[in-house]
Amino acid sequence: MTNGMIDLSGKVAIVTGGCSGIGRGTVEVLLGGGARVACIDIQDDKGHAMAEELGDGILYLHADVTAEDEVAAAFGQVTSRFGGIDALFNNAGAAEPLGSDPFDLEIFARVERLLVHSVVLGTKYAVPSMIERGGGSIINTASIAGLQAGYGPFAYSVAKGAVVHLSRVAAASLAREAIRVNAICPGLIPTSIFGRALGDSIEEADRRAKTIAEHSHGAQPIRIAGSPADIGHAVAYFASDLSRFVTGQFLAVDGGITVGPRTAWDETAALETWTRMGLDEEQVRTALGLTES
Ligand SMILES: NC(=O)c1ccc[n+]([C@@H]2O[C@H](COP(=O)([O-])OP(=O)(O)OC[C@H]3O[C@@H](n4cnc5c(N)ncnc54)[C@H](O)[C@@H]3O)[C@@H](O)[C@H]2O)c1
Repeated sequence: MTNGMIDLSGKVAIVTGGCSGIGRGTVEVLLGGGARVACIDIQDDKGHAMAEELGDGILYLHADVTAEDEVAAAFGQVTSRFGGIDALFNNAGAAEPLGSDPFDLEIFARVERLLVHSVVLGTKYAVPSMIERGGGSIINTASIAGLQAGYGPFAYSVAKGAVVHLSRVAAASLAREAIRVNAICPGLIPTSIFGRALGDSIEEADRRAKTIAEHSHGAQPIRIAGSPADIGHAVAYFASDLSRFVTGQFLAVDGGITVGPRTAWDETAALETWTRMGLDEEQVRTALGLTES
């Protein structure tokens, strides 16, 4: 550990979607652990400003993760600048606009392209360098929306479920090359993704992320707001040799939101459910240990 961070010195990591939210938080955690980090994104102003702010050890490169030629070129630049790739965090993403028709196949294909094809592309262009270096670690951002219904819109949730399974299948085929593949399923992390899905501009969405952060502590059993760094620390674990025997897994980093229904950890929700079923409120309050307010 260096400064309470997992030691990543000597490692080179790529973070896609590294200019905002989870990606940005992860870039900072990996740099803090001593890795050299290449951030790949399409928000060039933010990328250049971040590279200037965070200084040595970071490289910003423009690439649309759905465009094979751009991914190939960017990964090639990382290899020539940093000498190779040890860890890849396939993280860039967005959801379809909330309220979209689930059966609009154009939207469906666009979302799958952004969230699933991009993971295949990133893997394709990182693997040769990882093989040359004797192994590596690929970490894919899935979501709790890929584990259970109700945490995201239709195409997004299907795509994230695919990312969980893609990670297993890729782990199986890349194990002989000493390349590990795992997925992280974030819970509610206040970022711009929510505002963007509601149709906000990037600036509005960035502001909305701050508002969500102020109000999201009650969204899950652990009563604090999640942060991008919470995901970043999980990425650091998977990128490091501490996880050398772990592959094909997913890790939910979600404050416990997927442990069970809200009634399992929120007495008010339990009270509401039981009384809606016709039970006497006083009896339910006593059973739940809720005193009169
Ligand atoms: N925030 C959450 O609660 C949450 C929960 C589960 C999963 N996720 C996933 O986490 C990942 C990061 O999202 P976030 O919440 O940090 O959102 P965000 O909007 O803050 O960041 C997404 C980043 O991806 C970049 N990006 C989008 N399309 C791109 C493309 N075609 N090419 C390159 N870069 C592109 C954006 O410019 C942005 O910097 C996404 O895959 C998202 O689905 C987020």
